[in-house]
Amino acid sequence: MAIQSVGVVGCGLMGSGVAQVSAQAGFPTVVHEISPNALEKGLGSIRKFLQGGVDKGKLSAEAMQKTLSNLRGTTELKDLADCDLVIEAVSENVALKKEIFGTLDQACKPGTLLASNTSSLSITELATFTRRPEKFLGLHFFNPVPLMKLVEVIRTVRTADAALADANTWCAAIGKTVVNCGDSTGFVVNRLLVPYLLDAIRVYEQGLASRDDIDNAMKLGCGYPMGPLFLIDYVGLDTTYSIAGIMFDEFKQSRFAPPPLLKRMVLAGRHGRKTGRGFYDWSTNPPS
Ligand code: 3HC
Repeated sequence: MAIQSVGVVGCGLMGSGVAQVSAQAGFPTVVHEISPNALEKGLGSIRKFLQGGVDKGKLSAEAMQKTLSNLRGTTELKDLADCDLVIEAVSENVALKKEIFGTLDQACKPGTLLASNTSSLSITELATFTRRPEKFLGLHFFNPVPLMKLVEVIRTVRTADAALADANTWCAAIGKTVVNCGDSTGFVVNRLLVPYLLDAIRVYEQGLASRDDIDNAMKLGCGYPMGPLFLIDYVGLDTTYSIAGIMFDEFKQSRFAPPPLLKRMVLAGRHGRKTGRGFYDWSTNPPS
């Protein structure tokens, strides 16, 4: 197998999950954060998730220790230089990604595959920040990464067949099911999911039904594990707003336009689970 070691840039909600599943599958994994504090916070969330697995009887204490021994944190991008695959999972900011991919391209060995976990930015554009577009692709994971079985593997017109095959093989090795798709904003899942989530906000905004009735309608009427307003809180209102804005810019279709209520809640700091308040109050267990 071509990919033997993995680097992850960003140890937030998504990056920590990606680093965890990689280490858990036995790959030596180096995860990067900008500061020791941010790194410790991310590694702490991985330890907490693994401990939760041990407590639930899903994971042995030995498997947890083995996972942690495969994982190394760093605040230096150059420590990812020898990895066979580096996955960027920082916030959806093109300038920041440009800087990171430029640095990685300089630092990493020629064979390293570079990938972005972006949910809505153009993989083709991100590849232009490197001199290796044939070794560049999208690896889009889903939240919560350790539990969600899917990875969207995105190729651009420049991605080499061998790079795609190696990425698909690695995703299978970490226990995920792959959906291959081309580089179009939102790929498959967000192209379908985002208009649905935005419509749920519009229905709520119009007073058609209460928050709980909207969520129960989709949970009990369609068998979804979470209602749409709960899921927006889970994903983050800021993240949903940012993805919707990028998709609206791309397609110029009203179905992707962020509803006014979403914008106001983001401005008010109600970003959902991550800030303790969104459509739900997350200071209670379960959220109320
Ligand atoms: N370690 C190991 N296993 C664990 C665990 C842990 N710490 N915590 C939970 N699990 C296991 C449970 O034991 C259970 O296993 P089982 O099915 O064998 O019994 C399973 O994981 C489910 O856990 P829970 O029973 O605690 O929780 P739920 O059944 O409520 O499921 C959920 C949680 C998987 C998050 C489910 O609610 C769900 O699928 N929600 C939808 C999430 C979703 O849509 N995500 C995508 C968002 S979009 C996105 O990410 C894209 C981005 O670009 C925006």
